[in-house]
Amino acid sequence: MKKITYFLTAILISVGFQLKAHEGMWIPMLLQQNFAEMQRMGLKLTPEQIYSVNHSSLKDAVAGLSNSPHPQGFFCTSEIVSNQGLLFTNHHCGFASVQAHSSVKHDYLKDGFWAMSKKEELPNKGLTASILVRMADVTDSIIPHLSDTMSQQQRSAIVQPIISRLKKANSENGKYNVVIKPFFEGNKYYMLVYIVYRDVRLVGAPPSSIGKFGGDTDNWMWPRQTGDFTIFRIYTAPDGSPATYSIKNIPLKPKYHLPISLNGIKPGDFAMVWGFPGSTNRYMTAPELEFRMEHYFPPLIKAFGKKLEVWKKHMDANPDVKIKYASNYAMIANSWKYFIGQMRGVKKQHVVARKAAFDKRFAQWVSESPKRQAKYGEALKDITSAFSAESKTIEPLIYASITGAQGAELLGFAQKFSGLQGMLKQAKETKDKALKAKKMERVKKMAAAMSAKLQKKYKNYDMATDRAVFAAMTKMYFEKVPESLHPAYLDKMAKKFKDNFTAFANYVFEKSHFSTEAKARAFLANPTLKEINKDPAFILAQAYMAKLMAASSSYRAAAGKLAKGKRLFMEGIMQMEPNKVFYPDANSTLRYSYGKVEGYYPRDAVHYLFQTHLYGVMQKENPKNPEFIVPKKLKELYEKKDYGPYGQDGKQDVDFITTNDITGGNSGSPVINGKGELIGLAFDGNWEAMSGDIAYIPKLQRTIIVDIRYVLFIIDKYAGDTRLIDEMTIHKAVPQPDHVEAATTTAAAPAK
Ligand code: ARG
Repeated sequence: MKKITYFLTAILISVGFQLKAHEGMWIPMLLQQNFAEMQRMGLKLTPEQIYSVNHSSLKDAVAGLSNSPHPQGFFCTSEIVSNQGLLFTNHHCGFASVQAHSSVKHDYLKDGFWAMSKKEELPNKGLTASILVRMADVTDSIIPHLSDTMSQQQRSAIVQPIISRLKKANSENGKYNVVIKPFFEGNKYYMLVYIVYRDVRLVGAPPSSIGKFGGDTDNWMWPRQTGDFTIFRIYTAPDGSPATYSIKNIPLKPKYHLPISLNGIKPGDFAMVWGFPGSTNRYMTAPELEFRMEHYFPPLIKAFGKKLEVWKKHMDANPDVKIKYASNYAMIANSWKYFIGQMRGVKKQHVVARKAAFDKRFAQWVSESPKRQAKYGEALKDITSAFSAESKTIEPLIYASITGAQGAELLGFAQKFSGLQGMLKQAKETKDKALKAKKMERVKKMAAAMSAKLQKKYKNYDMATDRAVFAAMTKMYFEKVPESLHPAYLDKMAKKFKDNFTAFANYVFEKSHFSTEAKARAFLANPTLKEINKDPAFILAQAYMAKLMAASSSYRAAAGKLAKGKRLFMEGIMQMEPNKVFYPDANSTLRYSYGKVEGYYPRDAVHYLFQTHLYGVMQKENPKNPEFIVPKKLKELYEKKDYGPYGQDGKQDVDFITTNDITGGNSGSPVINGKGELIGLAFDGNWEAMSGDIAYIPKLQRTIIVDIRYVLFIIDKYAGDTRLIDEMTIHKAVPQPDHVEAATTTAAAPAK
């Protein structure tokens, strides 16, 4: 699952049920917490082979993908599969990179991309891959300096300098990126030391008809037949150190790479997933969950739904627009379906009632002793009051940000001119001639720098599409956001155009200097304060930002109380269950999860098996529906049963599911068998367990994985990129007499 991020995530805040087997995204350094159980389940490796700071170990093959300048904002996970830095991740993780290299003439999204030699591998500006060098518990350097009576500001005034000092002391003069993060709501702090590679090239991607087979219809669902993989390669400077792209760079010589198993899987097999899960809220209280259900998700779903509708119309009508908006569309469509699924899952699984029962148990435990009351007595109350306050302001805030400042791209472009506008204003107000001239010189420099970046900025922009988005989003803002948050300019223009937002949009796009690249360039050649001050897009962008800042002030005010409430609640529940081993919520740091291959019972009388096959692709084929087109070559291979060593018993396995606990950010994560061999890449979660980020439900929650043998089959037989196969360490299948028989049964118990 890909990490979902957007403007409002900062507002999202984050508790607990009995821990069940296989639940949890665990800290690699604390492998002992589950080691004995994992051994019982089939793990054959030693702890040192998995996580070692002194020797190369499995963790050295796992890389978090991100973009500079935030190399630890991991949106996905990847793994090294050869001694030449070859990297596997998901198709939907490489999607933006593939999109960036695509045009109507070379549509790699549609047709796939295969570099047939290293020379053909394509650089991706800004893409980074980070590998964890080591981690350490730094709680004792921080917590003793803090107390419960401190305000949030006082706490951070103490914590920040300590963090800075620790970072500096551990970065080895900039060789490593050091991140120190709160865990368990700030009850613990861990330090993570990463090495960051900055030349990550695109090596291969299947066509979307394989990599995204089933499209948004099948997204978040099982059974699935998606070949969700893409291949990159890490390059380094000739001396092996990280470097940005250079022709002189060489393929990474990794400390470790994962061997690949062709043995396949059967129900009950042990599976371990390594990756960078982004965010979960497993210890969320009932008031927060109710807040989400009632006030948070509904406006998000409405606003994003509208935007998707407009985009889709324009994308379907124009192949160029389709490529330009493909990546943004896929991202928002993915979040949108997630929100809908999570709401549905929370209702179906009665998660609010479960949380409320837990909160009650906690309150009871607190009430049993005066000491507990003194320490934890306010925690739940603080959380409840914070959310009841927020419930009154969140809706307008969501509409205001998604349909206002973030509505049309044009407004984003215009907003970027506020720095220049400030400089023009200063220059104008300067009386001294020489100083004024100097300031105008600075304006020119900045304009030139902005001009140089325009092409990139407008690369994925289509004016007609954005104009329609503007009309729809502005209308929604006007109707859904209370008048107190309406910019005066918006009301004035709505009146002028008699609430016809299409006419308003036409006017804005006609008049604005920023509605095309050419106009923006012309403006930057001779920027004037007068012109920018009367630019309708600039006026609106500024006004939206001002309103948004004002509206979000209540959030910032409540944040301290909430953080304290959550920290104490978390501490309290850990005290309440002293014998339980807790795992921290996901926070974009390296974690492992363990489980086994297993099907499930989605509803009465229905059993989903653990695995899909290529014939399932053929069953779903629909040449009239772009999401279910099957490429001709794939059909030929299917008809000839030309599966090479990747098929078994005349069948090609495609995807499978396990009980591993993952979330967004784990996309592309290596799935490893008991012997430490790669068996697949995790890529999704299932529809019946969409409330999983808040509560893990053992009978229903599954991780959807593309079988590594399908990945290799596509690389070898479909694409013919055999040089890649040659560089991997592939462990041939050994006969497994129990395979066929076991494949027809699973150990899952029916869901209630
Ligand atoms: N649900 C997957 C995730 O969150 C993304 C799958 C992408 N596929 C799609 N049809 N949008 O990582």
